[in-house]
Amino acid sequence: MPLRAPPGEEGGFTHNSETFPDATRANRPLPEHFHTMGLDQDTRTPSPPPMAHSVVPGLPLLRQGKIRDIYAIGETQLLIVTTDRISAYDVVLPQAIPGKGRVLNQLSLFWSRTLQLPVPDHYLASPTLQQLLPAGSAALAALQGRSAVVQRLRPLPIEAIVRGYLSGSGWREYQETGAVCGIPLPRNLQHSEQLPKPIFTPSTKAAPGEHDRNISQEEVEKLLGKTLADRVCTASLDIYRQAAAYAAQRGLLLADTKFEFGLDEAGELHLIDELLTPDSSRFWAADGYQPGSEQPSFDKQYVRDYLDRCNWDHSPPAPNLPAEVIDATSARYLEADRRLRGAAGRQEHPKDPS
Ligand SMILES: Nc1ncnc2c1ncn2[C@@H]1O[C@H](COP(=O)(O)OP(=O)(O)OP(=O)(O)O)[C@@H](O)[C@H]1O
Ligand SMILES: [Mg+2]
Repeated sequence: MPLRAPPGEEGGFTHNSETFPDATRANRPLPEHFHTMGLDQDTRTPSPPPMAHSVVPGLPLLRQGKIRDIYAIGETQLLIVTTDRISAYDVVLPQAIPGKGRVLNQLSLFWSRTLQLPVPDHYLASPTLQQLLPAGSAALAALQGRSAVVQRLRPLPIEAIVRGYLSGSGWREYQETGAVCGIPLPRNLQHSEQLPKPIFTPSTKAAPGEHDRNISQEEVEKLLGKTLADRVCTASLDIYRQAAAYAAQRGLLLADTKFEFGLDEAGELHLIDELLTPDSSRFWAADGYQPGSEQPSFDKQYVRDYLDRCNWDHSPPAPNLPAEVIDATSARYLEADRRLRGAAGRQEHPKDPS
């Protein structure tokens, strides 16, 4: 199926000749990173089928998150495989999205390389995927580009969210209370409006099937202790500011983002999980930005809109996704990747095990 502009698309994200010139002119080669995203140059169709579940011979599967399959490498390391699964309203959907897992994995590695992180992240340069899996095996080919070897850390029980703009649960809370996570905000802010300065708005990490709940800095201090709570807040704001400045150079607004942190044996703080992907962040096109309503973002917009039209009650199982919704969503993730990584995205990451 060809990649095409999603029906009814408005705003700046369309896959048209303006935003993606090389992909839409028949005689031009596709940008190099399209190939690493699994797209075939001649037909422009996603070549390998999407990966809903991974198979890693020889490593025990520790956990299946909504999106990631996590394998143990001995006692102290993990192989995190980012599948093409997609969730909406905290439910994993029946279909996977071609290219999504590679985009998420590569973007996280890209940010790890690009930003001056105030705390170490979890990525390890070795062992490589080639050292973990037999040469020429199907598993090796399937996992390339979508896996990362990381240090196994003890995740902190909070989601470290930073907001530069008022959206999602932040907007809902503001409408009810005039504050977000106990931080009072100016009156009469509009939906999606930029905040006077970025704010740290943590939430609980919900158990499977439940929803995260926004909490105050005092509640974070109760969970982590004051010293650690302050460090997480300061580090999160620092990373957000750097990433927002970078995104702005690429014509994108970083409305908000969610980080996860973990501790090592010595109690040192590390950044874990994914970093500044369309799943963990709201990126908006700066040129289409208009406060006063919800902004289209580079993630599950189409999926959510479709599910809302289905009147689904958000309890599993979720409805099947039609092909055009899958295509449009795939195109959206690839577009976010192209915009953010550009030429830099084509370089190999030193810690990418593929
Ligand atoms: N270095 C690490 N050490 C230990 N656990 C980690 C590390 N990095 C990520 N994790 C955990 O791996 C899981 C990632 O899987 P996934 O993103 O699919 O989870 P999830 O079910 O989507 O949860 P959430 O929606 O909260 O992200 C998360 O539970 C995360 O806390
Ligand atoms: Mg996650």
